[in-house]
Amino acid sequence: MSKSIFRKKSLDRILADVQSGFSDSEHTGGTHLKKELRTKDLTLMGIAAVVGAGIFSTIGEASFHGGPGVAILFVLTAITCGFSAMCYAEFASRIPVAGSAYTYAYASFGELIAWIIGWDLLMEYAIGNIAVAISWSGYFVNLLEGFNIHMPEYLTMDYFSAFKAHEKLAELTAGGKVAELTDQIKTGALAWASAPSIGGIKLIANIPALIIVVLITYLVYIGIRETKKVTNAMVLLKIGVVLAVIVLGFFYITPENWHPFMPNGFKGVMKGVSGVFFAYIGFDAISTTAEECKDPQRDLPKGMIYSLIICTILYVLIALVLTGMVSYKDLQVGDPLAFVFAKVGLNKISYVISVSAVIATASVLLIFQMGQPRIWMSMSRDGLLPKAFSRIHPVYQTPSFATIITGIVVAVPALFMNLTEVTDLTSIGTLFAFVLVCGGVLLLPKNEAGAGKFRIPYINAKWIVPVLFIAGIVFFWKPMLAVFRVENRHEQFPFALFIILSATLTVLAFVKNLSLIPVLGLLSCFYLMTELGYTNWLRFLVWLIIGLVIYFSYSYKNSRLGKELNQAAL
Ligand code: ALA
Repeated sequence: MSKSIFRKKSLDRILADVQSGFSDSEHTGGTHLKKELRTKDLTLMGIAAVVGAGIFSTIGEASFHGGPGVAILFVLTAITCGFSAMCYAEFASRIPVAGSAYTYAYASFGELIAWIIGWDLLMEYAIGNIAVAISWSGYFVNLLEGFNIHMPEYLTMDYFSAFKAHEKLAELTAGGKVAELTDQIKTGALAWASAPSIGGIKLIANIPALIIVVLITYLVYIGIRETKKVTNAMVLLKIGVVLAVIVLGFFYITPENWHPFMPNGFKGVMKGVSGVFFAYIGFDAISTTAEECKDPQRDLPKGMIYSLIICTILYVLIALVLTGMVSYKDLQVGDPLAFVFAKVGLNKISYVISVSAVIATASVLLIFQMGQPRIWMSMSRDGLLPKAFSRIHPVYQTPSFATIITGIVVAVPALFMNLTEVTDLTSIGTLFAFVLVCGGVLLLPKNEAGAGKFRIPYINAKWIVPVLFIAGIVFFWKPMLAVFRVENRHEQFPFALFIILSATLTVLAFVKNLSLIPVLGLLSCFYLMTELGYTNWLRFLVWLIIGLVIYFSYSYKNSRLGKELNQAAL
């Protein structure tokens, strides 16, 4: 058993599958794809998948906790993503077929890890899309207001946000702290107060989020594919609006708002990890286009890194502008970019931003809603999921069943879930996928025959990582000691794991002369995971356990590779 759960799909086999049309490709039906993407197209596609709910929404919550210092977090997170992007790029270069981390893992580490990554990518794509849909809804409602159309609050948010706001309102009012009431609390409490109820249960749900997911799922189902032209137009729109916010907002900055720079200290800044990381998710999605690239081994790495650099510059500037225009305390809203302009009295601009945000986030929704069924399709073709998941619609030529299931998986929770919760789940899941990808690169053979063109520059980690480890102990001995505290020990669990992992990698780096960049990628992603808190870890572990139960009860037995190996052994 232990051997067979690590059975690997050989590179030759993956390539042969592509040739026969039985590929991991997200687009094929046996045909060869037109190889026309170059670095510029890939960079634009990266930006198309990255710029969305993160910069239009979740930056608000992150700034509320971290203040202007959240700009630093954008840089730190970009560096972390940069390490992972290089690892993705090395995989994409060695295995230049369309696919994702799932395909890479199947070739390098075997079936079980591939399954875990595939299961985990569900968090990045489908759960991530719930967050994008919720964000879309926030801007859409704001847009309607611009046309004097008012949707009842109870139809535009989730149940628990309204409930919590209602409780908070009562608490602040009773304590005479009315000044602390934010717009978010007022809207939530209003939703609670005005909602009709059946059998004592308040009817509160995010209807616009549901509608947009149904609509996008329909488009994906009938096979809409953004053409290169539409993608380019989208990207220009997104960059245009972000630049407009930066340039216009610049004139409304009150420098006093930047003081103090980190009002809640570094801890406050790190509270924004999940929102900020969420803003970067998506650059890895271009690895699915390898078969459509003219020169994937050269252009994919460049496309990922360039899109990351461009987004980082835009994000840092936006963070500074937002926190410079209004007090960070006001930014706990779902539509911060539009909000700040309304706050300084520029309502028309606020509506223009809402229109752009509605279009921009819808395009991210489309990309991820297309990606998820195709990952399932790959897994189903490998026998790890039921055959229905790779069923192709006879007319539309799309993975019809998988698309509908994706629609349901995204639409239903979008009605009821809260943006922060969903963002946290997405971020922890994606970070874990990155940890596995970085770890995977460390296990790849160094001088493999037929190796691709892109290689992570080898810097020997032998001395650097131990020095960093010792520096870490010197600077962070206080939080490290906290691990041994008796009270709230469970809260310390993720950080304790991080210390163990760092120590182990330090020894391995020294003994085995590991490559520095994947080691730093692995450690930095894992560190960001520790910042996401015990509750998210618990949810994530439950998620993994469910995945493992499915693997051992279904996928292990039905694996195509497993069946073939068994037959060959007979
Ligand atoms: N990075 C993507 C977004 O912010 C997921 O919408």
